[in-house]
Amino acid sequence: MTMKKLLAVASMALTLGVGATAAPAAEGGHIPDVDYQFEGMFGTFDREAAQRGLQVFTQVCASCHSMKFVAFRSLTDLGYTEDQVEAIASQYQVRAGPNDQGNMFRRPGEPNDTFPSPYKNKVEGELANGGAYPPDLSTITQARAGGPEYVEALLTGYEQAPSDANVPQGAYWNPVYPGNKIKMPQMLIDGVVNYKDGTKATAEQMAHDVTVFLHWAAEPHLEERKRMGIAVVLFLIVLTGLFYAAKRKVWRDVK
Ligand code: HEC
Repeated sequence: MTMKKLLAVASMALTLGVGATAAPAAEGGHIPDVDYQFEGMFGTFDREAAQRGLQVFTQVCASCHSMKFVAFRSLTDLGYTEDQVEAIASQYQVRAGPNDQGNMFRRPGEPNDTFPSPYKNKVEGELANGGAYPPDLSTITQARAGGPEYVEALLTGYEQAPSDANVPQGAYWNPVYPGNKIKMPQMLIDGVVNYKDGTKATAEQMAHDVTVFLHWAAEPHLEERKRMGIAVVLFLIVLTGLFYAAKRKVWRDVK
């Protein structure tokens, strides 16, 4: 193998090992490509966007959705102090018990809890949402074919239904959603949250921010994984160089 070929193989390993996130099209409507800061070989989470996304999640999405695999304490990754994490957790009501009377009760969340569901059980959640249970959002950006781009487009994808469409009671027209009829109402309307950092809360901005937050939730180790990928590839390149030099030395006298 020539040095050139070796380099080609190394650069292929680089692409495979670090895993660029492409945006495969889902079967729904048009999904614009978004340049997320967490994409690419050196991708990192935009922490300001993720923190705003947490605010959107807490004030809007959490009234229907849980994230039962994400513990409040992991929010320190996004730059919150432990005191701030305690304060955030205590905004949530967590189901606990039974107490000594045998009853379940609610108490404010603690750092070791995970983002709770507002519903007692699946049936209650379905009854409140026209028969569709709001899915757990812990890994939603990974679970849907279009990835984060799909989630971001879905949240602002609502439109007036065409006159010949038969949209049942409790469903809404959203061409991004496969099948177009979704039982989640349009939640992101300009100004529905008041961002603490002064950013203007347009629907698009909130959709972007909450998507960055949800992708962090789904892939909290993304940065570590990418750093590791780069270290491994650098190591392999150095090793390749050493082997090549050794090979030249060993075969030097063979014509
Ligand atoms: C009023 C309740 C409610 C609120 C608030 C709400 N959702 Fe939903 N959401 C639902 C329901 C119900 C579904 C299931 C829809 C269906 O199956 O038709 C859903 C589904 C979803 C899905 C999955 C769509 C799919 O492809 O299956 C995503 C993603 C989502 N919601 C994100 C969010 C985000 C982000 C927020 C906050 C900005 C939010 N939701 C706020 C009720 C809600």
